[in-house]
Amino acid sequence: MSWFYRKLVRPVLFTHEAEDIHQLMLEKLAWVSRNDLVCDTVESWFGAPQLPVKLFGLEFPNPVGLAAGMDKNAEAVPAWAALGFGFTELGGVTWHPQPGNPPPRLFRAIPEAAIVNRMGFNNEGAAALAEKLAHWRATHRWPKHPVGINLGKSKITPLDQAAEDYANSFRVLRDLADFFVVNVSSPNTPNLRQLQDKAALDEILAALMDANQDAAKPILVKVAPDLSFDALDEILELVGPRRIAGIVATNTTITRPPTTNATVQRIYSETGGLSGLPLRSRSTEVISHIHRRSAGKLPIIGVGGIFTAADAWEKITAGAGLVQLYTGLVYEGPGLAKTIVRGLRQRMAAVGLSNLCHAVGRSNGGRRFGSPRSEL
Ligand SMILES: Cc1cc2nc3c(=O)[nH]c(=O)nc-3n(C[C@H](O)[C@H](O)[C@H](O)COP(=O)(O)O)c2cc1C
Repeated sequence: MSWFYRKLVRPVLFTHEAEDIHQLMLEKLAWVSRNDLVCDTVESWFGAPQLPVKLFGLEFPNPVGLAAGMDKNAEAVPAWAALGFGFTELGGVTWHPQPGNPPPRLFRAIPEAAIVNRMGFNNEGAAALAEKLAHWRATHRWPKHPVGINLGKSKITPLDQAAEDYANSFRVLRDLADFFVVNVSSPNTPNLRQLQDKAALDEILAALMDANQDAAKPILVKVAPDLSFDALDEILELVGPRRIAGIVATNTTITRPPTTNATVQRIYSETGGLSGLPLRSRSTEVISHIHRRSAGKLPIIGVGGIFTAADAWEKITAGAGLVQLYTGLVYEGPGLAKTIVRGLRQRMAAVGLSNLCHAVGRSNGGRRFGSPRSEL
């Protein structure tokens, strides 16, 4: 399938504007999601084998998830499970509905297997997302895998009122998803990344803790690949006090690797976050650092430049308990989750592992989840 997609389907899709194709694909997947027979057929083609993982109190049928940003408004919730994903992260959603930045705002750097985007949290708002999720839950099509929600800050909300903005979204969505990700790392909302500063993030997490009595829902924090290790360490200091369930590493980067290709240079000169292959090694470095710094005790979702089982294995052995992808799906097509899960199973068999948790952090001194987070 991957060959078929890469050689025959992708060249046709890539003759169109990136956002137009994104919209078209979402509409198709929304249609798949509404039709049981079609959804079952898609699952029979693309469904992944089991590779169970338990993390932050949830059970995942496999460790390969859909990253935030692909399905911001929960249009195709059942389809992601049918495409073999072991979990889905919906959103980013903001408290206020907002149009995002003016198009064009999504660009492919094809020779580098990369994307530059400055979408700017275009989404219908938390209340509309809640309605959509309640609708999917009322059907029998709610996926069997964990569903998370990526929370962003509304553009119109000033930075000093960010905590309430995140908490408002969380309150209306709390009972409708399994876990939440505080996104303070998108480069496309002015000054958002300043919220990665320890004091600002502490205020947001305090407001969320208040709204999350008994820590009923795991809350993770998504970090930028552009943070220094010192800045990451400051965030990790909040893990115990604010009961952070894990870190999602990483979001897109504002840096650009050197290139001599004129087309790529033109795309790289666009403002926005870069994802895909050029992000892969930096994202793995960040995962390794967090794993080492937390002595393997803090769950990490690894994301950034995953196209193959080898890429996913690199993230897992660096310390990620789960992985996610976005750009890989655009370049490799709908069979990717299944291909990666199969490849991971083969790798585990080759090194004699029966449980994926034994691979986590293997290249980085092993794994020790389960210890109290407050020890961090
Ligand atoms: C078009 C686009 C939109 C995105 N929107 C979000 C978002 O709303 N929230 C978020 O946390 N990350 C968002 N991301 C970042 C991805 O979730 C992911 O962290 C990043 O793309 C790196 O993974 P990849 O190399 O597999 O794409 C977006 C990425 C892309 C390409």
